[in-house]
Amino acid sequence: MKTTLSVIKADIGSLAGHMAPSKRLLETVEACIHERGRDLILDHYISHTGDDIAILMAHTRGEGDEQIHKLAWDAFLAGTAVARQQGLYGAGQDLLKDSFSGNVRGMGPAVAEMEIEERPNEPFLFFAADKTDPGAYNLPLYLAFADVMNTPGLILSPNMSKGFRFVIMDVSNTSGDRVIELNAPEEIYDIAALLRDPERYVVESVWSRASGEQAVAVATSRLHNIAGKYTGKDDPVMLVRVQMNFPATGEVLTPYAIGHFVAGGMRGSHQMPLMPVTSNTGISYFDGPPVVSCTGFCVHNGKLTEPIDGFAQPFWNTVRDHVANKAIEMRRQGFVGTAMLPMSELEYTGITEKLRDLDKRFALRAEALAPTLA
Ligand code: 13P
Ligand code: 13P
Ligand code: MG
Ligand code: MG
Repeated sequence: MKTTLSVIKADIGSLAGHMAPSKRLLETVEACIHERGRDLILDHYISHTGDDIAILMAHTRGEGDEQIHKLAWDAFLAGTAVARQQGLYGAGQDLLKDSFSGNVRGMGPAVAEMEIEERPNEPFLFFAADKTDPGAYNLPLYLAFADVMNTPGLILSPNMSKGFRFVIMDVSNTSGDRVIELNAPEEIYDIAALLRDPERYVVESVWSRASGEQAVAVATSRLHNIAGKYTGKDDPVMLVRVQMNFPATGEVLTPYAIGHFVAGGMRGSHQMPLMPVTSNTGISYFDGPPVVSCTGFCVHNGKLTEPIDGFAQPFWNTVRDHVANKAIEMRRQGFVGTAMLPMSELEYTGITEKLRDLDKRFALRAEALAPTLA
């Protein structure tokens, strides 16, 4: 059976700053999808990661379907009305356009979708990250799909030994989707050369070279490119199929034990380590640290099994402690050097204005006063 998995997420308002949506907000989105989606979708699952609400839907309508996107958009609109009533912070934050125009792409919400021919058993993982941008998945995807040190399946499993094709997007290009396709293992140095710059080059999808099947879909929107100004970090969602022709679940999850530094945290303007957390966890320290959740399912005839949390198992407590220590260590560096993002990525204009004013006050010291060597 051909099934489409669509995950659409948005920040439509949050408790106490940018921490988490209210219960009523989640209930409103859930009720809206439940009622209006009855004849449209086969199943759904709603959760939050930090202050972002993600709607995962299984249906048969294909990718980019207008009615599926409108269903999510309407649910977020209904939620925004509640967020306004409740006086939540940033009500409607990610709904950047006034009226729906066929597809939520380019309108603020993040979207990851995959139309798949269901395998007899179809295990997959749904990731959601908050306080970071889509480049946060670059390193974990490289390790899971191209590095034998992380993924022994690349040498153990005949299904995986042909490697994977990476589709990488240049997200700095705002006039259209600028993409490149590169094959692992032959072109891993080229892949790495791009992925080292996660603010510009972002993995959009990964494909099995053995079967041609899609393994990964990442939401690659850049909110500040859409809105022309800072509106919040992109907080990307991702779908990853696992097992058989794809890496095992554990091979996909392993890179998140690193707690690598990503763009995000306070005011979307810092470098902070990415902490794997359980689904439905809020945000705290320094509007961070950036978090990622993972929920696993099998989908069968368009029906989702119960969810299993990828980061609830006790192993991840040690990782969280480690990441918390890395976060505290980086914060000891305050505003200096690598602690803050480079100028091009700073999400506020205040500093640019300040530097412009200060620039006028610089003076070239008169040559006669300069120290000279006799
Ligand atoms: P099982 O034998 O438990 O199915 O595990 C197979 C596997 O590849 C795990 O990495
Ligand atoms: P969100 O993008 O998650 O709303 O966070 C915004 C922010 O600037 C937090 O400091
Ligand atoms: Mg927010
Ligand atoms: Mg967010």
